[in-house]
Amino acid sequence: MTTIRLPGLIDPHVHLREPGAVHKEDFDSGTAAALAGGFTCVLDMPNNQPPITDAATLAAKRAAARAKARCDYGFYLGAGTDNVATAAGLAAQVVGLKLYLDQTYGPLRLDALSSLIEHAERWPRERPMAVHAEGRNIAAAILVAQLTGARLHICHVSRADEIDLIRRARDRGLEVTCEATPHHLFLTAADAAAIGAGRAEVRPRLADARDRAALRAHLAVIDCFATDHAPHTLAEKDGDNPPPGFPGLETALPLYLALVHEGLLTLDELIARTVHNPRRIFGLPAQLDTWIEVDPDAEWVARGEAMCTRARWTPFEGWRMRGRVTRVVLRGQLAYENGKVLAPPGSGREVLTNQETNSHQEKENG
Ligand code: NCD
Ligand code: ZN
Ligand code: ZN
Ligand code: ZN
Repeated sequence: MTTIRLPGLIDPHVHLREPGAVHKEDFDSGTAAALAGGFTCVLDMPNNQPPITDAATLAAKRAAARAKARCDYGFYLGAGTDNVATAAGLAAQVVGLKLYLDQTYGPLRLDALSSLIEHAERWPRERPMAVHAEGRNIAAAILVAQLTGARLHICHVSRADEIDLIRRARDRGLEVTCEATPHHLFLTAADAAAIGAGRAEVRPRLADARDRAALRAHLAVIDCFATDHAPHTLAEKDGDNPPPGFPGLETALPLYLALVHEGLLTLDELIARTVHNPRRIFGLPAQLDTWIEVDPDAEWVARGEAMCTRARWTPFEGWRMRGRVTRVVLRGQLAYENGKVLAPPGSGREVLTNQETNSHQEKENG
C-alpha cells in the first residue's frame, strides 16, 4: 500500500441542514461525513428553515456549528427579495452570497430580474455571488455580473450548452468561475432507473451522456469540484413528493481520483479544483498543519448504510470505488483514521474570523 499525502480538501457547496432539518443531517453528522471523505473545510448553503438571510438567522446557524462541527466551515448568506438593503452589511461574515435563480429545494428563490440586479449592485466585489442558475439564467447572471462588476460563481454546471457558454465568456476575458459535481461528472438520466426515480431527483437534473462528456471535455473551464452534498432521508426520497438532492461527501474523492486514473486530469489539477481554487475564490485562509492521507489504490464498495451522513444512502450504491482516505489531520490533531471519526463535535472552526465577526460574537456572548 502506498499512501499519498494531500492537503485537506475544501468542499465549497454543502447543505448540512442545520437549523431546521436535523433529521436529514446536522453539523455533527455532516462534518463527520466530510472528514470521512477527506474534507477539512466545507462551505454551508443558506437554504435552511428559516433561510439564512439576516444577522439573527446567521447567528443561530453559527451557534449550532460552533457547538457541533468537527471540521472547519464557512457560511453563505441567502439572497432574498427582502434583504437587498441589508445583505451587503453581512458580507464580511460569510464566504459569499447565494442566489437561487431557479426552482430547487427550499423557499429561497429570486424570480425577478430586478432582485438579481439590485443584489449585484450592492454586494461587495471581494466576495463572490454564487448562483443556482440553469440554462438561460446562466446567461442572465453573467451579463448582470458584467454590468454591475459583481464577481460571479456558477454552482453545479451540468449541461453542454452551459459549460460552452461559460467557456466563451472566459475566452472573452470575463471573470466568472464555476463548479461541477461528481454526480454530473459520473451519472446521467439513464442511471435513474438503477438509482430509483425518487432517489435520482436532483437539481440540476441528471443530464444526458453528451452533457456529461462536455463537462469532462471542459475540465479546464471548471474551477472547483463541489459535492452539493444535499442529504434527504430515504423515506423522503422514496415517498410521494421526493425532494431533490444527493449526499456526496463520502463518495467524492474516489470519483475525482477516477478522473485522474482515466487521464483526464493530473493530481495537481485535482488539488487545484478541491483546494487552491476554492480557497482563492472564496478568500479562505490556509488551514495550517492540515492534511489527508489517501491510499489511491484501495478498492471498496460504496454502501449508504456504512456512511456517516444521516441520510445513509448514496446514488452510487454498489459502485466499486478506488481510492480511500486513511487519515485526516486537522490543525495538528488526528481527526479521522481508518473509518473512525476522532475529531469531537465543536472542534471545527469557522474559517472567516475577522474583526466584524468577532465583535459580533462578543456581543452575542456578553
Ligand atoms: C439542494 C438541496 O436539497 O438543498 N438540492 C439539490 O437537488 N441540489 C438544493 C440545491 O443545491 O439546488
Ligand atoms: Zn497502493
Ligand atoms: Zn443548487
Ligand atoms: Zn446545493
